[in-house]
Amino acid sequence: MAWLPGFVAACVSISISLIVWWIRLPKNLPSGPWTWPLLGSLPNVGISLYRSGLQPHQFMAQLTKHYGKVYSFYLGNQLLVILNSAESVREAFKNQCLADRPKVHIPDRLKGEHGTGEGVVMASGESWSQQRRFTLSTFRSFGVGKRSFQDQISVEVQALCEEISTLEGESFDPRKLLTNAVTNIICTVIIGKRFEYSDKSFHDLLQLYDRQQKAAGSGLADSLIPILRFLKISSKSDEERYQNNQQLGKFYNDILSDHRKAFDPTDLKDYIDVYLDEINKTEDSSSSINPNNLMATIHQLFSAGAGTTITTLRWSLLYMMAYPEIQRRIQREIDDVVGRNRLPDYSDKEHLPYTEATLMEIARIASIAPFGIPHVAAQNTTLFGYNIPEKTIIMSNIWAIHNDPDTWKDPDMFRPERFLDGDRLVKQPDAYLPFSAGRRVCLGENLARMELFLFFSHFLHRFTYKKPQDSPELSFDGVAGAANSPRFYETEAILRE
Ligand code: HEM
Repeated sequence: MAWLPGFVAACVSISISLIVWWIRLPKNLPSGPWTWPLLGSLPNVGISLYRSGLQPHQFMAQLTKHYGKVYSFYLGNQLLVILNSAESVREAFKNQCLADRPKVHIPDRLKGEHGTGEGVVMASGESWSQQRRFTLSTFRSFGVGKRSFQDQISVEVQALCEEISTLEGESFDPRKLLTNAVTNIICTVIIGKRFEYSDKSFHDLLQLYDRQQKAAGSGLADSLIPILRFLKISSKSDEERYQNNQQLGKFYNDILSDHRKAFDPTDLKDYIDVYLDEINKTEDSSSSINPNNLMATIHQLFSAGAGTTITTLRWSLLYMMAYPEIQRRIQREIDDVVGRNRLPDYSDKEHLPYTEATLMEIARIASIAPFGIPHVAAQNTTLFGYNIPEKTIIMSNIWAIHNDPDTWKDPDMFRPERFLDGDRLVKQPDAYLPFSAGRRVCLGENLARMELFLFFSHFLHRFTYKKPQDSPELSFDGVAGAANSPRFYETEAILRE
């Protein structure tokens, strides 16, 4: 029995630690799954997620049945609040205390030459407002997202349609061609030039982005949540990310040094020129307008601006193949309004409600940014009467909002009419949030809407899309990652008369 006193002492100290842990847990949080000491809800949530076979955004949507539309849980010692209703996203994201981004842990080795700044997407506080204001005003000065910008987009759309027409009805994976075209639009804004599709350096850049996009999905969770990093649950090869970062860093450095050599303050041609000019004019050495943030922002605008649009367009062709009747109805509408003797124009948009409703339905059903981008509480605050402690990560489950049967009748049916009232487009429904809401609402929303409309309307004006014979069944299951992307598929584009 010599062990008894030691055993009792251990039990007492464990009990005291548990009581202290429990007392210290913040109170009046949104309800959520059971929390274990140290691990939080990782074991129960992790096991249920694994067993469900669902994607994380679908699984998190299911949890609303038990805990309501706003719930919370810990992963290790990191508290997360998940917002599954449009009302909660709008309410939370207009709160200045919930507009920051969490600090992302990047292993030193992975900090490529563009890795030290937070740019616009990952910045918080004053640095973020400065970067966002600067980026928005520079975009405005180049007319990005305004009608005058449509010519630049049309150049790319037409180049892409030419490429597709050379395939003469052969089956093809649209991803590569879309990537060429959409990335070229961002290139025009940021570096002031477009690349020919055959250009080797352009091709290398696209490959780097492709790899980076795939690695980003797996890296995001563990760069935010210490316990996932520790357990190495979701991490992909650091080496691959390192190599990628090095190469992207070199690409940006080359572009920047070309811009510095050719810099002329009286002729600012693109975003980089305007940024360099602002750096030169800034006397405040602590300003966030600095070379590190320039590097990070270029990188982020390429990633945020191209991947999202390409993915939406890939879903759009997939749905057109699957719903030939809807495809025909869009083509009839475009033919009636635009005719066969000219190409669709942005000013046609308001006369093409069915086309626009279809694009909205694609953005709803696919929800390509299922969790948006995480926010963090900069200080203690409240949301609907609940306490939200400082450093809580806030995630919007946009997929759950877009697929909520309480809001959308038969949410898993693809039905563009849900956005129409008779022949007229319904005013944007409250529960439609593909670009999120509030202070950090997507900065490229206008550009994205214009790109999506022009690409989609040109595609259907010129071609009809068919599932190639003997190709696998079309699948609408997304591939999990930072973006909800369709699985690999091929299509056939038949030239219309
Ligand atoms: C279909 C296309 C797109 C979708 C669905 C989309 C969606 C989103 C979403 C959900 C967010 C997160 C907002 C939040 O934190 O609450 C976001 C942020 C952002 N998007 Fe987009 N986006 C698209 C296209 C673009 C384009 C074309 C650009 C730029 C050229 C862009 C640039 C950004 C930037 C810079 C942010 C971060 C804003 C900030 O942190 O203040 N996006 N986007």
